[in-house]
Amino acid sequence: MAIREIVVYPDPRLREISKPVTAFDRGLQDLVADMAETMYDAPGIGLAAIQIGIPKRVVVMDLSETRDHLQVFVNPEITALGGTTETEEGCLSVPGIFATVERVEKVRISARDPAGHPFEMDADTLLSVCIQHEVDHLNGKVFVDYLSRLKQNRVRKKLKKELRLAESEAV
Ligand code: NI
Repeated sequence: MAIREIVVYPDPRLREISKPVTAFDRGLQDLVADMAETMYDAPGIGLAAIQIGIPKRVVVMDLSETRDHLQVFVNPEITALGGTTETEEGCLSVPGIFATVERVEKVRISARDPAGHPFEMDADTLLSVCIQHEVDHLNGKVFVDYLSRLKQNRVRKKLKKELRLAESEAV
């Protein structure tokens, strides 16, 4: 297991459409283990594989206070069940930026576990918002895409400035 580097917005890799997982093998188990370790280390509550540069439809999440309830969604599909909700969202790939995003309130999630077994669950509140945010990642979308163009430019400028600072400090 290893902590992987997190891809930061506006890195073009975050625009890739991730491919469905077809092999539920050791490689997948290792990927899931690395993703979980990277998410817990960050720390964050959700991570999609593309956020460590792997374009596969894999999501890990832990919404528990105790940080001991790992949820893994392979090839997740979501169906809107209704309602709308607004939540302040953040993202490990957009560090330090938080913004309110409107999403569907209730969704049905169909996915597979890392062994390939299919499962289904209905979600509302945080789980619903979080899986919508992560499935967006699998489709090359980031939560700042929902903001106005002006706000998106501000986010890009802020992150580029921070990147330059980090690079000059590293020299
Ligand atoms: Ni995110």
